[in-house]
Amino acid sequence: MSSTPATLVVAIDGTSGSGKSSTSRGVATRLGIRYLDTGAMFRAMTWWMLEHGVDVHDPAAVAARCGEPVLESGTDPLNPTITVDGTDVAVAIRSAEVNAAVSPVSAVPAVRTRLLELQRRIIGEGGIVVEGRDIGSVVAPDAPVKVYLSADPSARAHRRAAEEGGADLAATQESLLARDKIDSGRATAPLTMAADAVHIDTTPYSLDEVIGQVVALAEAVEART
Ligand code: DC
Repeated sequence: MSSTPATLVVAIDGTSGSGKSSTSRGVATRLGIRYLDTGAMFRAMTWWMLEHGVDVHDPAAVAARCGEPVLESGTDPLNPTITVDGTDVAVAIRSAEVNAAVSPVSAVPAVRTRLLELQRRIIGEGGIVVEGRDIGSVVAPDAPVKVYLSADPSARAHRRAAEEGGADLAATQESLLARDKIDSGRATAPLTMAADAVHIDTTPYSLDEVIGQVVALAEAVEART
């Protein structure tokens, strides 16, 4: 869509498996703007902690080391990339070990401060779809388009298990719900729906339908500006 303002920021928050990543990439592609997966940044930080033998359940130990890894996120929605100290970790950050450790690492305030700075630098002047847990509430509170995606737990587990190549459904659902609990309950920047976000329950919709709904919201903002 040629009329997309170069400065548009679309904030997409929600739980794991709500369709956030596929929706965000699809919206960015259709609008011709960039894409940032902030969950991948928290995962990359977690991967580095595990690689360096840091006890992820010791917040002081995590805080002491979180300034060290050099994280780089590529923002092409057709080919998003993530590297840590120059190593491509796109596959490694989706492991069961990282899934189990990412919520406690993400709850450490120093980790959030460090990644917030990187996220704001990448967002820059805008022209980007940003997905995460606290984008509309903390990272980009002025974003003109804010969406909160949710879906039934069993729909989420089916989608995530399919993405992970047929992982065990019950175990996948259990891991999603455990992460939701920590992500929603943490003191700093918990998973929350911003007061001015549009809530879309994606359970009954296809991916294309959800992308269409978010693109329509972005177009409505453009029409007003
Ligand atoms: O979206 P995801 O499942 O890849 O995110 C992985 C974890 O990262 C999630 O359990 C919580 C954390 N996260 C966060 O705390 N804040 C964000 N903006 C994005 C992710």
